[in-house]
Amino acid sequence: MRNLIDITDLTVEEIDALVATANDIIANPDKYCEACHRKKLATLFFEPSTRTRLSFEAAMLELGGTVLGFSQANSSSASKGESVSDTVRVVGCYADIIAMRHPKEGAPMVAAMHSPVPIINAGDGGHNHPTQTLTDLLTIQREKGRFDNLTVGLCGDLKFGRTVHSLIHALSRYTGIHFVLISPEELRLPEYIIHDVLEKKNMSFEETQDLEAVMPKLDILYMTRVQRERFFNEADYIRLKDSYILTLDKLKNAKEDLCILHPLPRVNEIATNVDEDSRACYFKQAQNGKYIRMALILKLLGVEV
Ligand code: NCD
Repeated sequence: MRNLIDITDLTVEEIDALVATANDIIANPDKYCEACHRKKLATLFFEPSTRTRLSFEAAMLELGGTVLGFSQANSSSASKGESVSDTVRVVGCYADIIAMRHPKEGAPMVAAMHSPVPIINAGDGGHNHPTQTLTDLLTIQREKGRFDNLTVGLCGDLKFGRTVHSLIHALSRYTGIHFVLISPEELRLPEYIIHDVLEKKNMSFEETQDLEAVMPKLDILYMTRVQRERFFNEADYIRLKDSYILTLDKLKNAKEDLCILHPLPRVNEIATNVDEDSRACYFKQAQNGKYIRMALILKLLGVEV
């Protein structure tokens, strides 16, 4: 039985196949509309979500399956003290596959050790978010046509931003990638990722605080929200929250074919008039999230179409 806890649980070839399936779903949606007939997806969300949970649910519904679950820890027996391992052991009796988001790093991994059905990590604390990365990769493939030879700017909260952590893991397996890590000093990429991924794999990267200075060389600009819920004190959050605000003015020196991504939700990091710029891809990215999750559900359930 397969789970998806970390993006590197999938080989590069498996990611290519998922992207190909997602593209086929986009082109031929009718082919897939009964693929998961009588299958059930449980979404266990111990942390808030809009896109991830709803795109998982929409994905299963579009495959002809059904969904059950909860969207807040306090509406589940976790509020009575039930462990994650007991919860999934039980939910695994009712559902064929589980997508779980949890504030504690490692919770989905523990769940996978006890679950009778596949577990998908839908975000664990400040750690990983592999299905957002699949969404990002599908978008990059559709917009850029390749995963190699890209200069990728990652901007904002690189410390707590789990989407950035998983994306770095994923892109580090391709050639010709140069990472530009743009953040305030306090929100730099954690040392363990710099060491275990970037340095170990001899990746080309630079760190800077100056978004405008690096703008002209970027092929991709991945903006992120400052993760308020992971700060220990509100004063630090307030001081750092508006570190980077992308405006049309700052895009003046950007490439014509820059691809601007953001996992969303946006707070203040991108001015809303940037949305009309042809380089803004973040709403397309959110839409792609449903298709790649359809492909992932098919794969983990072993359904052939
Ligand atoms: C992200 C997350 O939950 O980590 N959102 C998402 O899943 N699309 C990013 C965020 O919350 O800032």
